[in-house]
Amino acid sequence: MVVYLDHAAGTPLRPEARDAWLAAQAETGNASAIHTAGQRARRLLEEARERLAAVLGCGAIEVVFTSGGTEAVNLAVKGLWEVRADGTEDIVLPDGEHHATRDAVAWLAGSRGAGVRPVPLDPQGRIRPGRFAEVLPGAAIATALVANNEVGTRNDAGALARAAATAGVPLHLDAVSAFGHLPVDFASWRADARGATGLVALSVSAHKVGGPVGVGALVVSRHAEPSAQLHGGGQQRALRAGTQDIAGASAFAVAAELAVAELADEAARLAALREQALAAIRREIPDVVPLGDPVDRIPGNLHLHFPGAGGEAMLFLLDQRGVAVSTGSACQAGVPEPSHVVQALGYDDRAARQVLRVSFGRTSTGADVEALAAALPDVVTRARASR
Ligand SMILES: Cc1ncc(COP(=O)(O)O)c(C=O)c1O
Repeated sequence: MVVYLDHAAGTPLRPEARDAWLAAQAETGNASAIHTAGQRARRLLEEARERLAAVLGCGAIEVVFTSGGTEAVNLAVKGLWEVRADGTEDIVLPDGEHHATRDAVAWLAGSRGAGVRPVPLDPQGRIRPGRFAEVLPGAAIATALVANNEVGTRNDAGALARAAATAGVPLHLDAVSAFGHLPVDFASWRADARGATGLVALSVSAHKVGGPVGVGALVVSRHAEPSAQLHGGGQQRALRAGTQDIAGASAFAVAAELAVAELADEAARLAALREQALAAIRREIPDVVPLGDPVDRIPGNLHLHFPGAGGEAMLFLLDQRGVAVSTGSACQAGVPEPSHVVQALGYDDRAARQVLRVSFGRTSTGADVEALAAALPDVVTRARASR
């Protein structure tokens, strides 16, 4: 039996989402078709859009379904930048953003002449709203994580959105790692926004909340019109062409509703598992350093620096013992990269390769914590010895 502690990378499909997926998949019909079968499919799709909108705090018309978080982020960053870049080409990019955002911005910088305005993180991995506000004036767009997907720290999304509204800059929030774990409310964060500035877009992904892989959504304010990145049949306000995935949308809506309904209870339960794990690990490995904010964070995320122990070595040794965790950072062509997030916290390259992300989720129990705590001391000793 695998002790699965990588829920931040992907959490198991909820049975209710699976049922919704199968039920919708049984429908024959393209939601854009005019005949009765098409209309039935359309009803299912629009019901899913409404249900997802209700838990995101936006209007149904503002939900644009995508193939996942990466596509949602790309549509937001590239689409919003393209309609604004007319002498104000700069993108406000905090240092710890997910690779979907960093690489979309790098592409715009490399091939389209976008400028980048970085924002440093504080030592706990938080974007300071004051630093964010300082670099906003005159920028084309800004983007920010609601919570850091590696070290788990929550940002003050409301303050970041207010700063963008004050500066008159369109803001995209990446809520992929936060949604279902921390409150997400598009309407309240957009409260001070005017028209196509302030908070205008927010990304989410189904497989982080117990929905299927390959489904996501971008909330696009009705006042904003990013340029489409996929062209074709004009579906979804012509922002995202392509025959719509009704089964995926239905399953996402069901999973999101359940995750949001369970959020308060699960947050308390997962935070307790996290504390229990940290205490047990500290007893055996006293020099372990937990990273990120200790309290204001994704509750089930435990991010640990083990001085002198390579992250990849620890990951493989834990895997051999049936415990699945992550280093949290990207792996390019099989070669682990140092985590840019850990570097942004002020650690050097070496330390940024000596981290593990343990993430608890819906199926996690105290027995998982015990298995992790039992396996880690030997794993860390071996990883240190193998250097
Ligand atoms: C913060 C964040 N943004 C974007 C993504 C990309 O989402 P997807 O895997 O659905 O493409 C992820 C996935 O890990 C994420 O954690």
